[in-house]
Amino acid sequence: MAFGDGDSIDPLAVDGRAEKSGLNQASSAKWGPTNAQIKSRERVRDLAEVYTHKREVDAMLDLVAPMFPSEGDPANTDRTFLEPACGSGNFLEEILRRKLAFVSVARYGRGDRYEHRILRCVASIYGIDISQDNVDESRDRMRAVVNSHLDNDLNTKVVSDAFASAVEAILGTNIILGDTVADADRINLVEYRASHGCTFIRTWTTLDAASREMDLFAAMTPKCDARPVHFKELASHPEPVPALLNGVEA
Ligand SMILES: C[S@@+](CC[C@H](N)C(=O)[O-])C[C@H]1O[C@@H](n2cnc3c(N)ncnc32)[C@H](O)[C@@H]1O
Repeated sequence: MAFGDGDSIDPLAVDGRAEKSGLNQASSAKWGPTNAQIKSRERVRDLAEVYTHKREVDAMLDLVAPMFPSEGDPANTDRTFLEPACGSGNFLEEILRRKLAFVSVARYGRGDRYEHRILRCVASIYGIDISQDNVDESRDRMRAVVNSHLDNDLNTKVVSDAFASAVEAILGTNIILGDTVADADRINLVEYRASHGCTFIRTWTTLDAASREMDLFAAMTPKCDARPVHFKELASHPEPVPALLNGVEA
Protein backbone atom coordinates (compact mmCIF):
# COMPACT_ATOMS: atom_id res chain seq x y z
CA MET A 1 0.00 0.00 0.00
CA ALA A 2 1.42 3.37 -0.93
CA PHE A 3 0.00 6.67 0.11
CA GLY A 4 0.14 10.00 -1.64
CA ASP A 5 2.97 11.19 0.55
CA GLY A 6 5.18 8.25 -0.47
CA ASP A 7 4.76 6.02 2.60
CA SER A 8 4.89 2.34 1.76
CA ILE A 9 3.56 -0.60 3.74
CA ASP A 10 3.14 -4.20 2.64
CA PRO A 11 1.26 -6.02 5.39
CA LEU A 12 1.19 -9.71 6.11
CA ALA A 13 -2.22 -10.95 5.21
CA VAL A 14 -4.65 -13.08 7.17
CA ASP A 15 -8.01 -12.95 5.43
CA GLY A 16 -10.67 -10.65 4.09
CA ARG A 17 -13.58 -10.80 1.70
CA ALA A 18 -16.54 -8.73 0.77
CA GLU A 19 -19.51 -8.39 -1.45
CA LYS A 20 -19.44 -8.30 -5.20
CA SER A 21 -21.85 -6.27 -7.25
CA GLY A 22 -22.23 -4.46 -10.50
CA LEU A 23 -22.85 -0.74 -10.09
CA ASN A 24 -26.47 -1.09 -11.15
CA GLN A 25 -27.09 -4.43 -9.52
CA ALA A 26 -29.33 -4.59 -6.50
CA SER A 27 -28.04 -7.93 -5.32
CA SER A 28 -24.55 -9.01 -4.37
CA ALA A 29 -22.82 -12.35 -4.12
CA LYS A 30 -20.38 -13.47 -1.47
CA TRP A 31 -17.10 -14.72 -2.82
CA GLY A 32 -16.90 -17.40 -0.19
CA PRO A 33 -18.81 -18.65 2.84
CA THR A 34 -16.14 -17.42 5.23
CA ASN A 35 -13.54 -14.69 5.28
CA ALA A 36 -10.99 -16.81 3.44
CA GLN A 37 -7.46 -15.50 3.35
CA ILE A 38 -6.38 -17.48 0.31
CA LYS A 39 -7.99 -18.59 -2.93
CA SER A 40 -5.79 -21.64 -3.52
CA ARG A 41 -2.47 -23.16 -2.53
CA GLU A 42 -1.29 -22.68 -6.11
CA ARG A 43 -1.92 -18.96 -5.93
CA VAL A 44 -0.06 -18.69 -2.64
CA ARG A 45 2.86 -20.46 -4.30
CA ASP A 46 2.73 -18.55 -7.62
CA LEU A 47 1.58 -15.11 -6.53
CA ALA A 48 2.47 -15.01 -2.82
CA GLU A 49 -1.24 -14.41 -2.48
CA VAL A 50 -2.43 -14.23 1.11
CA TYR A 51 -5.00 -11.55 1.75
CA THR A 52 -4.99 -9.09 4.60
CA HIS A 53 -7.58 -9.54 7.34
CA LYS A 54 -10.12 -6.77 7.79
CA ARG A 55 -8.79 -6.26 11.31
CA GLU A 56 -5.29 -5.45 9.99
CA VAL A 57 -6.66 -3.35 7.15
CA ASP A 58 -8.58 -1.26 9.66
CA ALA A 59 -5.65 -0.98 12.04
CA MET A 60 -3.29 0.14 9.29
CA LEU A 61 -5.68 2.68 7.86
CA ASP A 62 -6.30 4.01 11.35
CA LEU A 63 -2.60 4.88 11.41
CA VAL A 64 -3.11 7.30 8.54
CA ALA A 65 -6.39 8.80 9.70
CA PRO A 66 -5.43 12.31 8.47
CA MET A 67 -5.51 10.90 4.92
CA PHE A 68 -9.28 10.58 5.25
CA PRO A 69 -12.12 13.03 5.66
CA SER A 70 -13.29 13.63 9.19
CA GLU A 71 -15.79 15.76 11.09
CA GLY A 72 -13.16 18.47 11.29
CA ASP A 73 -12.17 18.16 7.62
CA PRO A 74 -15.07 16.59 5.72
CA ALA A 75 -13.84 17.77 2.30
CA ASN A 76 -10.56 15.85 2.60
CA THR A 77 -11.68 13.29 0.02
CA ASP A 78 -8.91 13.56 -2.56
CA ARG A 79 -5.81 12.13 -0.93
CA THR A 80 -4.19 9.60 -3.24
CA PHE A 81 -3.76 5.91 -2.43
CA LEU A 82 -1.94 3.36 -4.57
CA GLU A 83 -2.04 -0.38 -3.89
CA PRO A 84 0.72 -1.86 -6.11
CA ALA A 85 -0.38 -5.46 -5.46
CA CYS A 86 -4.01 -4.91 -4.57
CA GLY A 87 -5.20 -8.51 -4.58
CA SER A 88 -8.97 -8.65 -4.47
CA GLY A 89 -9.22 -5.16 -3.03
CA ASN A 90 -9.30 -5.47 0.75
CA PHE A 91 -7.56 -2.13 1.21
CA LEU A 92 -9.20 -0.43 -1.75
CA GLU A 93 -12.67 -1.23 -0.47
CA GLU A 94 -12.07 0.14 3.00
CA ILE A 95 -10.28 3.25 1.72
CA LEU A 96 -13.25 4.06 -0.47
CA ARG A 97 -15.69 3.40 2.35
CA ARG A 98 -13.82 5.80 4.63
CA LYS A 99 -13.79 8.51 1.99
CA LEU A 100 -17.46 8.12 1.14
CA ALA A 101 -18.49 8.23 4.79
CA PHE A 102 -18.33 12.02 4.54
CA VAL A 103 -20.04 12.41 1.17
CA SER A 104 -23.73 12.88 1.83
CA VAL A 105 -26.74 14.45 0.17
CA ALA A 106 -27.06 16.53 3.30
CA ARG A 107 -23.61 18.00 2.65
CA TYR A 108 -23.53 18.24 -1.16
CA GLY A 109 -27.16 18.28 -2.21
CA ARG A 110 -28.72 15.86 -4.67
CA GLY A 111 -27.22 16.16 -8.12
CA ASP A 112 -23.97 16.84 -9.92
CA ARG A 113 -22.01 18.14 -6.94
CA TYR A 114 -22.84 15.03 -4.96
CA GLU A 115 -22.03 12.69 -7.83
CA HIS A 116 -18.81 14.55 -8.60
CA ARG A 117 -17.70 14.25 -4.99
CA ILE A 118 -18.30 10.50 -5.01
CA LEU A 119 -16.28 10.26 -8.21
CA ARG A 120 -13.47 12.24 -6.60
CA CYS A 121 -13.30 9.56 -3.91
CA VAL A 122 -13.13 6.75 -6.47
CA ALA A 123 -10.69 8.65 -8.70
CA SER A 124 -8.07 9.10 -5.99
CA ILE A 125 -7.70 5.36 -5.36
CA TYR A 126 -5.42 3.18 -7.50
CA GLY A 127 -4.90 -0.57 -7.56
CA ILE A 128 -2.62 -2.75 -9.67
CA ASP A 129 -2.51 -6.53 -9.70
CA ILE A 130 -0.89 -9.14 -11.89
CA SER A 131 -4.00 -11.31 -11.89
CA GLN A 132 -7.03 -10.30 -13.98
CA ASP A 133 -9.51 -11.96 -11.62
CA ASN A 134 -8.15 -9.82 -8.80
CA VAL A 135 -8.56 -6.71 -10.93
CA ASP A 136 -12.13 -7.71 -11.76
CA GLU A 137 -12.93 -8.47 -8.15
CA SER A 138 -11.40 -5.23 -6.92
CA ARG A 139 -13.49 -3.27 -9.40
CA ASP A 140 -16.59 -5.21 -8.34
CA ARG A 141 -15.95 -4.40 -4.73
CA MET A 142 -15.42 -0.71 -5.45
CA ARG A 143 -18.75 -0.67 -7.35
CA ALA A 144 -20.40 -2.45 -4.45
CA VAL A 145 -19.14 0.17 -1.98
CA VAL A 146 -20.51 2.94 -4.19
CA ASN A 147 -23.83 1.09 -4.56
CA SER A 148 -24.12 0.52 -0.88
CA HIS A 149 -23.34 4.16 -0.16
CA LEU A 150 -25.99 5.30 -2.64
CA ASP A 151 -28.52 2.87 -1.21
CA ASN A 152 -27.99 4.24 2.26
CA ASP A 153 -27.77 7.89 1.36
CA LEU A 154 -30.12 8.31 -1.59
CA ASN A 155 -32.70 5.77 -0.51
CA THR A 156 -34.88 5.16 -3.58
CA LYS A 157 -33.47 8.01 -5.68
CA VAL A 158 -31.20 7.05 -8.54
CA VAL A 159 -28.04 8.59 -9.92
CA SER A 160 -27.60 9.67 -13.52
CA ASP A 161 -26.54 7.21 -16.23
CA ALA A 162 -23.56 9.45 -16.86
CA PHE A 163 -22.47 8.95 -13.26
CA ALA A 164 -22.46 5.17 -13.68
CA SER A 165 -20.44 5.52 -16.89
CA ALA A 166 -17.98 7.81 -15.16
CA VAL A 167 -17.51 5.26 -12.36
CA GLU A 168 -16.72 2.64 -14.98
CA ALA A 169 -14.32 4.96 -16.79
CA ILE A 170 -12.44 5.71 -13.59
CA LEU A 171 -12.31 2.10 -12.45
CA GLY A 172 -10.99 1.24 -15.90
CA THR A 173 -8.03 3.60 -15.56
CA ASN A 174 -7.37 3.18 -11.84
CA ILE A 175 -7.80 -0.51 -11.04
CA ILE A 176 -5.58 -2.16 -13.59
CA LEU A 177 -3.75 -5.28 -14.65
CA GLY A 178 0.03 -5.11 -14.49
CA ASP A 179 3.27 -6.46 -13.18
CA THR A 180 4.30 -3.74 -10.78
CA VAL A 181 7.83 -5.06 -10.47
CA ALA A 182 8.70 -5.74 -14.11
CA ASP A 183 6.51 -3.29 -16.00
CA ALA A 184 6.50 -0.07 -14.02
CA ASP A 185 7.57 1.86 -17.10
CA ARG A 186 4.60 0.48 -19.07
CA ILE A 187 1.86 0.78 -16.46
CA ASN A 188 -0.15 3.89 -17.27
CA LEU A 189 -1.78 5.89 -14.52
CA VAL A 190 -4.28 8.69 -14.91
CA GLU A 191 -4.49 11.46 -12.34
CA TYR A 192 -7.92 13.00 -11.92
CA ARG A 193 -7.57 16.50 -10.53
CA ALA A 194 -10.93 17.88 -9.49
CA SER A 195 -11.72 21.26 -10.99
CA HIS A 196 -14.58 23.75 -10.96
CA GLY A 197 -18.07 22.94 -12.22
CA CYS A 198 -17.92 19.20 -11.51
CA THR A 199 -15.00 18.65 -13.87
CA PHE A 200 -11.67 16.87 -13.80
CA ILE A 201 -8.35 17.63 -15.46
CA ARG A 202 -6.57 14.37 -16.22
CA THR A 203 -2.85 13.78 -16.50
CA TRP A 204 -1.37 10.58 -17.90
CA THR A 205 1.89 9.22 -16.58
CA THR A 206 3.56 5.88 -15.93
CA LEU A 207 3.98 4.15 -12.60
CA ASP A 208 7.72 4.40 -13.11
CA ALA A 209 7.66 8.17 -13.60
CA ALA A 210 5.18 8.71 -10.78
CA SER A 211 7.09 6.61 -8.27
CA ARG A 212 10.24 8.67 -8.78
CA GLU A 213 8.38 11.59 -7.28
CA MET A 214 7.32 12.13 -3.68
CA ASP A 215 3.98 13.32 -4.98
CA LEU A 216 2.46 10.52 -7.04
CA PHE A 217 1.67 12.84 -9.93
CA ALA A 218 4.26 15.56 -9.53
CA ALA A 219 6.06 14.41 -12.68
CA MET A 220 4.94 16.72 -15.44
CA THR A 221 4.02 14.94 -18.62
CA PRO A 222 2.78 16.51 -21.82
CA LYS A 223 -0.22 14.20 -21.93
CA CYS A 224 -3.07 15.91 -20.15
CA ASP A 225 -6.46 17.47 -20.79
CA ALA A 226 -6.19 20.93 -22.31
CA ARG A 227 -9.42 21.93 -20.58
CA PRO A 228 -11.47 20.66 -17.66
CA VAL A 229 -13.74 17.74 -18.57
CA HIS A 230 -17.16 17.44 -16.99
CA PHE A 231 -17.56 14.09 -15.26
CA LYS A 232 -20.41 13.27 -17.63
CA GLU A 233 -17.91 13.40 -20.52
CA LEU A 234 -15.28 11.14 -18.99
CA ALA A 235 -16.55 7.90 -20.51
CA SER A 236 -16.95 9.38 -23.98
CA HIS A 237 -13.52 11.09 -23.86
CA PRO A 238 -11.02 8.43 -22.74
CA GLU A 239 -8.13 10.35 -24.31
CA PRO A 240 -6.89 13.88 -23.51
CA VAL A 241 -9.30 16.54 -24.75
CA PRO A 242 -8.06 19.52 -26.77
CA ALA A 243 -8.72 23.13 -25.88
CA LEU A 244 -11.86 24.87 -27.09
CA LEU A 245 -11.56 27.66 -29.63
CA ASN A 246 -14.72 29.78 -29.82
CA GLY A 247 -16.59 26.95 -28.11
CA VAL A 248 -15.36 24.34 -30.59
CA GLU A 249 -12.67 21.73 -29.99
CA ALA A 250 -9.41 22.99 -31.49
C1 LIG B 1 -0.03 -10.93 -0.34
S1 LIG B 1 -1.28 -10.62 -1.59
C2 LIG B 1 -1.88 -9.12 -0.90
C3 LIG B 1 -3.14 -8.61 -1.56
C4 LIG B 1 -3.69 -7.31 -0.96
N1 LIG B 1 -2.70 -6.27 -1.01
C5 LIG B 1 -4.13 -7.53 0.47
O1 LIG B 1 -3.44 -7.00 1.36
O2 LIG B 1 -5.13 -8.19 0.73
C6 LIG B 1 -0.23 -10.14 -2.94
C7 LIG B 1 -0.95 -9.90 -4.27
O3 LIG B 1 0.01 -9.38 -5.19
C8 LIG B 1 -0.27 -9.82 -6.49
N2 LIG B 1 1.02 -9.80 -7.19
C9 LIG B 1 2.04 -10.69 -7.09
N3 LIG B 1 3.08 -10.29 -7.84
C10 LIG B 1 2.71 -9.12 -8.43
C11 LIG B 1 3.36 -8.22 -9.32
N4 LIG B 1 4.59 -8.44 -9.76
N5 LIG B 1 2.69 -7.11 -9.72
C12 LIG B 1 1.43 -6.88 -9.29
N6 LIG B 1 0.77 -7.70 -8.45
C13 LIG B 1 1.39 -8.79 -8.01
C14 LIG B 1 -0.90 -11.18 -6.34
O4 LIG B 1 -1.85 -11.43 -7.34
C15 LIG B 1 -1.51 -11.12 -4.94
O5 LIG B 1 -2.92 -11.00 -5.00
